[in-house]
Amino acid sequence: MIPLSIPNIAGNEWKYVKDCLDTGWVSSVGSYVTQFENMVADFAGAKFGVAAMNGTAALHIALELSGVVQGDYVIVPNITFIASCNSVAYTGATPLLIDVDEETWQMDLHLLENFLDNNTYIEERLNEFGEKEILSFYKKDDKPISAILPVHVLGNMCDMDHLVRICKKYHITMVEDSTEALGSNYKGRHAGTFGQFGTFSFNGNKIISTGGGGVIVTNDEGLAKRAKHITTQAKTDPFEYNHDQIGYNYRLVNILAAIGVAQMEQLPDFLIRKKEIDRRYREGLESDDLTFQKVGMDVIPNNWLHTMKVKQQRPMIKHLLNNGVQCRPFWVPMNQLEMFNDVPYVTEGDKANEVYKQCISIPSSTSLTDQQVEEVIKVINAFY
Ligand SMILES: Cc1ncc(COP(=O)(O)O)c(C=O)c1O
Repeated sequence: MIPLSIPNIAGNEWKYVKDCLDTGWVSSVGSYVTQFENMVADFAGAKFGVAAMNGTAALHIALELSGVVQGDYVIVPNITFIASCNSVAYTGATPLLIDVDEETWQMDLHLLENFLDNNTYIEERLNEFGEKEILSFYKKDDKPISAILPVHVLGNMCDMDHLVRICKKYHITMVEDSTEALGSNYKGRHAGTFGQFGTFSFNGNKIISTGGGGVIVTNDEGLAKRAKHITTQAKTDPFEYNHDQIGYNYRLVNILAAIGVAQMEQLPDFLIRKKEIDRRYREGLESDDLTFQKVGMDVIPNNWLHTMKVKQQRPMIKHLLNNGVQCRPFWVPMNQLEMFNDVPYVTEGDKANEVYKQCISIPSSTSLTDQQVEEVIKVINAFY
């Protein structure tokens, strides 16, 4: 079976892990953790990076530090991986779902702006520190919309200038779910650096992997310090067991960060390989029935997971699996999941459902050989 998206362990991973084991620095204190967070932040062009044990934990912390609290709304696209909505739920807030654009599969910004224009009003509230903050409130139930979580779905990005304008106009803090978008840029600026926070994931299927892992990036030193503080049990003293708030045991461990350092060294090559595979798929898969994700002129994506939209999705999936090509359907839209089927969903025609019913992700690992890529193309073309 040609695998869908597996890690490519081809560099110094063994050497750096051995170093951790030989020296005994295996846990969350260790030089690889700091090195890894710096490497990710530098690569993204952010001032600070804070490591977390996975992308979900990174999202949770970023939302909490953005002042999202019980009873708030956080805007999320209806097509995303469950972790986006789960991390909102961990804070006690509710996702407010926005449908996606049928071509880019990112949040539909026109729909978003139209919704905010017609369904919200702007007012002040006092935050947890007793300070005044200006926010948009949903007219229907007077609840504040304290953040927006754009998701750079599959490493693509929406029109970020437009999104930044919307956030400013409506006083909404942006936290980017850039977990899939390490290496993606909009007008030369890296994903994850447009919002107050950006977040990356390094689970097994991502462009680089630490097995499991995440990094939060931000340009705000105070927020970076607070992120590190609450991901390490909010301890205030290196010797005494003193803690000044409820913290989390969310820090990445040194062994995994060591893998991350080795993976980051290879990221430029991985990005080149992803582009080659993307180009070959786009050239080789020619059926009129088949379309790829539309990428805006200002976006250079990382081509993380190659995904095609076809009318006969389920028969195609069966055909691929029967012919040795691993594939996956897209995420079930958030509004169709039991936990989120009664949250507000802003849509005109439920494009998310159409994307879900037609998309198939196909083999995308950077370790794919040219022959494997040609085999995938041959099998898909044979279907038609
Ligand atoms: C869009 C999105 N958000 C969040 C996550 C969560 O990351 P992790 O699996 O590292 O917790 C992932 C990755 O799995 C993802 O694809």
